[in-house]
Amino acid sequence: MSLSLSDLSEEVLAAQYAVRGPIVARAMELERNGKTIIYCNIGNPQALGQKPLSYVRQMLALMQYPELAQKSPQAFPSDVLERASFLLKASGGMGAYSESKGLRVVREAVAEFIVKRDSDSTLTLDADPDHIYLTDGASKAVQSVLRLIIASKQDGIMIPIPQYPLYSASIALYGGSQVGYYLNETTGWALSENELERSYITAKNKGITVKAICVINPGNPTGAVLSKENIAMVIAFAKKHGLSILADEVYQENIYRPEDKFISFARVLTELGDTDVCLFSFHSCSKGFHGECGQRGGYLEARNVSPEVLAQITKLQSIALCANLSGQILVYLMVRPPRPGEVSFSQYENEKKEIIGELAARANLMAEGLNRIPGFSCAPIVGAMYAFPQIQLPLGRSDSEYCLALLEETGICLVPGEGFGQVEGSAHFRTTILPPRDQLQQVLKKLEDFQRRWK
Ligand SMILES: Cc1ncc(COP(=O)(O)O)c(C=O)c1O
Repeated sequence: MSLSLSDLSEEVLAAQYAVRGPIVARAMELERNGKTIIYCNIGNPQALGQKPLSYVRQMLALMQYPELAQKSPQAFPSDVLERASFLLKASGGMGAYSESKGLRVVREAVAEFIVKRDSDSTLTLDADPDHIYLTDGASKAVQSVLRLIIASKQDGIMIPIPQYPLYSASIALYGGSQVGYYLNETTGWALSENELERSYITAKNKGITVKAICVINPGNPTGAVLSKENIAMVIAFAKKHGLSILADEVYQENIYRPEDKFISFARVLTELGDTDVCLFSFHSCSKGFHGECGQRGGYLEARNVSPEVLAQITKLQSIALCANLSGQILVYLMVRPPRPGEVSFSQYENEKKEIIGELAARANLMAEGLNRIPGFSCAPIVGAMYAFPQIQLPLGRSDSEYCLALLEETGICLVPGEGFGQVEGSAHFRTTILPPRDQLQQVLKKLEDFQRRWK
């Protein structure tokens, strides 16, 4: 074979993506050989049995096959027939490329959603459909912005440790420098100004030009939900050092305690009246209560970004022509759900409540169950879809070895803490909270048995 690894770019070889790394490859091999595997490695709700929302699939069916509206109108509620007819006219259908930023009708709906989500009696927010880009999942949106910002090896991007490996992998792929800031496990994975400054100065002293800071809120893998004060602190820090902010808000609907509330970076930036700090915010159809990971719908909203830079983002988008159309329609359905008075409203609300309620119950069950296992300690799971417990291992053993041995013996597929980053000398794993409760109980039981035996 004429193409060998030595022909490939250093950046491609350096990129690592633990969530689908060697442990998952081994799990698939074991599965092919007949072993039952419980995939707890990735936040993929429908792969673990979560049902899609009826409204969403009815709409998609009509969008893909408009003749159904004539052939079987009785199969669809009247508001679905009306909305699909409106969207088909406004979009030009699913088989054509859209403009590179994405369908205008969808971007307008996203702008309306942001205004409604973030405005209240004390503040009215603006959102401009021209500053919104529809993407194949949030992943592609994050990658566009990193691609845009990283101009040399010396360009640093601050990312949380532990982090979601999309960030470390993409920074490596685009040839930049990863600058980690640690979240504090003992205070529920809180983010502190001192740590941000420490991380920034350390990078600067190594000759790195820090250009942006990424924040994941609610956190993956930590689940931590940021307060308004914390967000304002990050914005002030970014302003002080001239950094752009990448706000990954894909878990904004996955918040489980009544006392916690999702507050967007866009809202706090507007409240502070800041017009300097460039903000890129991301959202996705893969998480929340939709869990439509396979449809690849996401968006990016840019604030305080100059028209020249926006034009470069549009150019990047145009290189791949446009995001896939099902994903774009999914974004529309996420930001413009049925409203009170519409026929589908109550079914939609019931399905949504059930999914969120179930996730909250699983979050509790998982955290309590993990904390009962000797040698495990897990912060309360207040957001997102994961637990990231600290585990005590026999001297000299790593969490990768632990996860591999666990997989071989029990069929449970986790991601080792090493893949997300962690304080040196500590060991963790990440598991999703997504398996149904009876399966989750089994996972906990198997984990406990394994933990007692593993040396
Ligand atoms: C924090 C975070 N950001 C972005 C993504 C990417 O989501 P998608 O590309 O499916 O929209 C994920 C997926 O798990 C995630 O956890």
